[in-house]
Amino acid sequence: MSSRFFERPAHAAAYAKFRPQPPPSLTQRILDTLKEKYSGELEGAADVGCGSGQSTQVLARHFTHVTGLDISPAQITEAVRLNTTPNVTFKVSGAESLPFRDSSLQLVTAGQACHWFDLPKFYKEVDRVLVPGGILALYGYMYPRLLHPTHADSFSKIMEDLFSNDLGQYWGGGIEHVEEQYKDPKFVIPYPDFHRENCHHVDKEVTVQELGGYITSWSAFHSYHQKNGDQAAQTLLDGFLQRVMETLDVKTGVEDTTITLRFTFFLLTGRKPLR
Ligand SMILES: C[S@@+](CC[C@H](N)C(=O)[O-])C[C@H]1O[C@@H](n2cnc3c(N)ncnc32)[C@H](O)[C@@H]1O
Repeated sequence: MSSRFFERPAHAAAYAKFRPQPPPSLTQRILDTLKEKYSGELEGAADVGCGSGQSTQVLARHFTHVTGLDISPAQITEAVRLNTTPNVTFKVSGAESLPFRDSSLQLVTAGQACHWFDLPKFYKEVDRVLVPGGILALYGYMYPRLLHPTHADSFSKIMEDLFSNDLGQYWGGGIEHVEEQYKDPKFVIPYPDFHRENCHHVDKEVTVQELGGYITSWSAFHSYHQKNGDQAAQTLLDGFLQRVMETLDVKTGVEDTTITLRFTFFLLTGRKPLR
């Protein structure tokens, strides 16, 4: 079963504004892995579960054409609105039936998304559309750590409390797989040439207010909002931000207190056999 948690327009907008792009080192690692054994033209890539397109755009300069696919029309509307790259197009499509010819893509990626796919159907489709030697790359990340000499641990406790206690019951099925960095055997891409790593990160400098915006992009926050209403959602967010400010122990307000967040990514790659 695949799931649909990111459909509402406000959620898509928060997603576009506050979520990180994949780190350049991760994109480079995927390309290096592909080029280790594939020396032809890089004609086509697809980014499945592309959301508002931040994971799609990073592929644009490496391929003749890149397609972002998402099951959510709201996310695709946002991705099209934000797109500035002529060789990138976006389409509404589920991961389980990919709108490409057989053997027509060198790369398929899924960033922070495949734990919602029907994986056996997705793997079958990927195998159909990849060229021999092509790569499937699955990656994801958990909530960020604060880069700070003394407050990093207390910040992590506040994040963990929000993630697991306040919002724990509002996460859709599948988030546990992200927490486990896709350790479940179902994420082993069914190709012999399969690798995992978790050494890529991206640092984002944000205000504490923007950290609040990032929290509003969580599917669990949206479910909480839907179930409990505006006031309860605002109270939850305000309480979280207040705890963060107390931990930082600064005199500035949420709009002008800047912090650096580190998102650490894990990556799984599998290569379709050459013959
Ligand atoms: C957390 S977002 C990730 C967006 C983006 N790839 C990124 O890295 O930020 C997950 C996306 O997967 C999409 N999705 C969930 N199930 C899907 C499916 N079966 N087929 C295609 N997209 C799906 C959701 O609509 C959502 O936009």
